[in-house]
Amino acid sequence: MDLQLTGKVAVITAASKGLGKAVALELSKEGAVCYICSRDSNILQKAADEIMSVTGNTVIALPCDVTNPDDIAKCKDAILKEYKTVDILFTNAGGPPAGFIKDFSSEDYIRAIELNLISAINLIYAFLPVMQKNQYGRIIASTSITVKQPLDNLVLSNVSRVGVVAFIKSIANQYGKYNITANAVAPGYILTDRLKSLIELKAQQENTTYEKALASFASEIPLQRIGTPEEFAALVAFLASPKSGYINGQTILIDGGMYKGLF
Ligand SMILES: NC(=O)c1ccc[n+]([C@@H]2O[C@H](COP(=O)([O-])OP(=O)(O)OC[C@H]3O[C@@H](n4cnc5c(N)ncnc54)[C@H](OP(=O)(O)O)[C@@H]3O)[C@@H](O)[C@H]2O)c1
Repeated sequence: MDLQLTGKVAVITAASKGLGKAVALELSKEGAVCYICSRDSNILQKAADEIMSVTGNTVIALPCDVTNPDDIAKCKDAILKEYKTVDILFTNAGGPPAGFIKDFSSEDYIRAIELNLISAINLIYAFLPVMQKNQYGRIIASTSITVKQPLDNLVLSNVSRVGVVAFIKSIANQYGKYNITANAVAPGYILTDRLKSLIELKAQQENTTYEKALASFASEIPLQRIGTPEEFAALVAFLASPKSGYINGQTILIDGGMYKGLF
């Protein structure tokens, strides 16, 4: 299927590795101009160079801490100076620390909400006006399976991400009339550095090996395996494309069937 992404301008945050980088690679393969953001400028530039060497399309590294509104404003100004449009926004950030209710104070919740909720809201506020002006936009917010099914050792994720889904639904309701769609994606276990660190933590806590902890994660999933960043990116690329034009206000799980509920 031709996703009709050639020449579309995409902003992908938290994209120097893991899920964000996989999304940038997939969009770039499909012909989009990709702006990628994260904090470490060296690692980010290396990621941009690597993606460009594979796809031959433009990838621009813009260092940005998504918890810093000034950084977001600078990125927006730099992009709009160059392209006058942003067609696709993929909001993403690092994950909050793992742990149970007993492990955290209110400051930890505030930091997690700033990292995973306020950053998405600020990014969307930054790029919504140009999408509205151009009467076109695809907003995809990365969340987690925790928005459907809280995980006991990820209480900060459980709390901080549901607001993103509520905000996405509000954007979908209020901006659909401008031909802007807004959806959330909710990954289960996808093999990135973040997941590897969660597997290592489980191995330590249960005094077992990394391999046994990995097998235990996989055993929670009907498909009996962890997902790949490429599988995640394929979903996002479709949602980022004109082909997904009638999908709006949805939260789409990509979890190998791990979610146990019906709806
Ligand atoms: N992998 C999974 O199975 C899974 C499942 C559900 C949800 N998630 C969530 O999806 C998100 C991405 O996960 P991942 O697995 O791709 O993690 P990852 O491989 O550790 O990558 C994290 C990326 O986020 C960037 N980042 C971290 N904090 C940032 C900030 N404040 N501003 C801008 N960029 C920032 C990092 O670069 P810098 O450190 O240089 O900024 C890096 O590029 C996380 O929130 C994670 O909790 C992941």
